[in-house]
Amino acid sequence: MKHIICILICTIVLCAETISFASSTETTSLPKPKLDGGIPLYEALKKRATGRAFSTKDISDKQLSQILWAATGVNCEKSQKRTAPTAWGNNEITLYVLLKTGTYIYNPIKHNLVTISKKDNRALGGIQKFTKDAPVTIVMVADLDKISQTKDEAYKMAVSQMDAGFISQNIYLAAVSEGLITGARAYINKDKLRTALKLTKNQKIILANSLGYIKK
Ligand SMILES: Cc1cc2nc3c(=O)[nH]c(=O)nc-3n(C[C@H](O)[C@H](O)[C@H](O)COP(=O)(O)O)c2cc1C
Repeated sequence: MKHIICILICTIVLCAETISFASSTETTSLPKPKLDGGIPLYEALKKRATGRAFSTKDISDKQLSQILWAATGVNCEKSQKRTAPTAWGNNEITLYVLLKTGTYIYNPIKHNLVTISKKDNRALGGIQKFTKDAPVTIVMVADLDKISQTKDEAYKMAVSQMDAGFISQNIYLAAVSEGLITGARAYINKDKLRTALKLTKNQKIILANSLGYIKK
């Protein structure tokens, strides 16, 4: 009985996630992530630092695939659990990916990008000047409606901020392994960005990480 309830809950969660990505049908598949190798964990921790001097050089699809998987990809096919923990396992954070070619949502279940706009919105990913140079900005957006265990809005925001922190640190470590720099950023013009991302009232921009090669 317990087993059946667990399967039912997993199915409902998966359906809900599929529905939330279903409004746009244009998708771009990402290369299959390589789930072994990379630099040793302690070396990545030793090298972790915030970078702000970005080269405008593009990163490869392979690198983007690795980073997104590391950020919040599915790390267990059976349970569909993720590389980053979330309070109550709600997976309330969605990654919006700002690229030169457009704005996308990362779907961790299918490991692909769902197009939401063909516009280059990278300059809206932050207020600091370097933002527009970075080839990629990953914006962490929390859907507070996915947190049903409490009605306390401040608590919902607090857990979303913590959950985004785990994702951001995963991005930092994967970026080191990929030979890239990254930096967490809370300093964002949220009003302008939320309009560009077409967010609803309860979808909150929490944090962003820009990503790219270091400017030489
Ligand atoms: C939650 C959070 C928000 C941050 N927001 C910004 C930001 O808006 N702009 C920025 O340049 N750096 C930002 N940073 C980066 C910090 O300034 C940086 O982590 C700190 O100076 C320590 O440097 P390090 O990461 O190189 O060790 C943020 C870091 C965190 C964890």
